[in-house]
Amino acid sequence: MHRCIFRFAELPWQCAARCMSSSSGKRSRVMQSSFPVLDLPLHPIQHHIYEANLRNSTACHKKCTELREKVKKGGGENAVTRHTQRNRKLLVRDRLRLLLDDEDFLELSPFAGLGLPYGDIPSAGCLTGIGRISGLWCVFIANDATVKGGTAYPITVKKQLRAQEIAIQNRLPCVYLVDSGGAFLPLQSEIFPDKNQGGRTFYNEAIMSAMKIPQVAVVCGSCTAGGAYIPTMAEEAVMVHRIGTIFLGGPPLVKAATGEEVTPEELGGARLHAEVSGCVDHFAWEEKEAFDYTKNIISTFNFQLPHEEEDSTRRKAAEEPLYASEELMGLAPRSYNYSLDAKMIVSRLTDGSRFQEFKALYGTTLISGFAKIHGHLVGIVANNGVLSYEAALKGSHFIQLCDQRDVPLIFLQNTAPSGALTLSTKQAEMNSNCLKAQGSMMAAVACASVPKITVVVGGSHGADSYAMCGRAFEPNFLFLWPNARVSVTAPGHVGALLPPDAEEEEEEEKLNRRLKEESSAFFSSGRMWDDGVILPQDTRKILKDCLEIIKQQHYQLSTKKSQSMLLRM
Ligand code: COA
Repeated sequence: MHRCIFRFAELPWQCAARCMSSSSGKRSRVMQSSFPVLDLPLHPIQHHIYEANLRNSTACHKKCTELREKVKKGGGENAVTRHTQRNRKLLVRDRLRLLLDDEDFLELSPFAGLGLPYGDIPSAGCLTGIGRISGLWCVFIANDATVKGGTAYPITVKKQLRAQEIAIQNRLPCVYLVDSGGAFLPLQSEIFPDKNQGGRTFYNEAIMSAMKIPQVAVVCGSCTAGGAYIPTMAEEAVMVHRIGTIFLGGPPLVKAATGEEVTPEELGGARLHAEVSGCVDHFAWEEKEAFDYTKNIISTFNFQLPHEEEDSTRRKAAEEPLYASEELMGLAPRSYNYSLDAKMIVSRLTDGSRFQEFKALYGTTLISGFAKIHGHLVGIVANNGVLSYEAALKGSHFIQLCDQRDVPLIFLQNTAPSGALTLSTKQAEMNSNCLKAQGSMMAAVACASVPKITVVVGGSHGADSYAMCGRAFEPNFLFLWPNARVSVTAPGHVGALLPPDAEEEEEEEKLNRRLKEESSAFFSSGRMWDDGVILPQDTRKILKDCLEIIKQQHYQLSTKKSQSMLLRM
């Protein structure tokens, strides 16, 4: 029994060790392949479906642009003026501009916090993402203090924890830009007590340190109450003079308790923490200097990245797909009935539109096979109809094959609107067999220790979505196209699931209306059931970034020593 528990506890370490076994750093030679080309232009007969999808995708694109503009405004004009003029601080996106090597970073869940029962919280009050610093992909978690002083709402906590989870799963260094008033007090019961709430951030910091996942904090605003533990638990902390403060209770609390008048600077400013308490390790006169320190700290993390030449050779060797990525807008189904051949999507994502199909003639409602994306070998699994018995068996086989060969998996999810009904004994037998095969596929997905990336290109409904590596199956990344629908059953298909009674029609209409609203990609992303809505035409580039990000752990040299906990003073 104990042995078993220990083995599970060891899993993340085993994964890391496995990745390290293919450790690079030395020059490597990429194996040549010439997979067959998927020559799948759009046929005239498909035009009306393509055009309808395109109209829907264009509307979705417009909504994405509107939401992007909305979240960029943060907490609004007054809060921005207070932040920049009165508090003399940089806006969070300007901070990232100073910290990151370039502006091309992968933002995670930008629409998180929109449309929640407690209001619209732009960016969930905290920007998270993955960008390069000193050449190294790092996760960043950066409070936006224009949103209610950067206080943590339940969705803020969820966003921070997901960013840490990504850092853990992909062994990415993590940088915290802290500027937060701590818990958003009116919602304290939803932030404080439970396992995956406030305290988990600090728990994760300790575990990450023990796993040798480096963490740096930059204190560029207030770190009050719980927020104070973020820099004190990070391995190295930088603090900015005058704008950075760390304390459990601020000057008003001191005045109330002791009657003493004290300035924030005297109580917990950068000088005090750099000279007296030792809570921070670097004192910066201003923000730019703090970010320069941070870049230098990151350059000490001891990664041996591949030679630039090697990277550029791989990039040059990668062929572009035969078809323009914009065509994916017309292949993104507005509803299940508007789905075209999944191989058309594959052919617009892979290098040279090439695809080495596996079991092409068996279980054809699931497509599986090998391809390259910007030179990275991947296994692709894509829905192309109902996940039948044969399709699920084929899925299990292919996933195990990729696991055995250490090939990352990409799931293109577009599942059927609802499960098959049991209306006869024959049907019951078929359904039971299908159940068994889908269970096997779920087990194969859950146990495959290779990286997994899921893109919901259409529907994500019912148990098929679990077998296709839905959120609960812990893909390294999960993105949605804006046309995607996420719900237990698709809108318009709820009727067959309702018990027959007199009010059925009214009830059905009500439920379908609700499903329509709740299944939208924006509803999902607002609640962080995914890592963000991405445009179909950006998918190839985002997959390339994710594959590079995942691969970076191979280049960390400092994991080789046995684990040790890092003790701060
Ligand atoms: N819970 C809920 N709302 C909070 C909050 C908190 N902990 N801290 C700040 N706010 C709100 C303010 O009411 C204000 O709301 P408004 O814009 O609707 O008026 C907004 O956040 C900005 O606060 P303000 O004090 O005007 O801005 P500031 O930039 O001068 O200061 C803080 C920001 C965070 C430093 C300051 O508000 C503060 O010290 N807050 C208390 C922190 C605290 O004690 N936290 C303990 C949590 S356990």
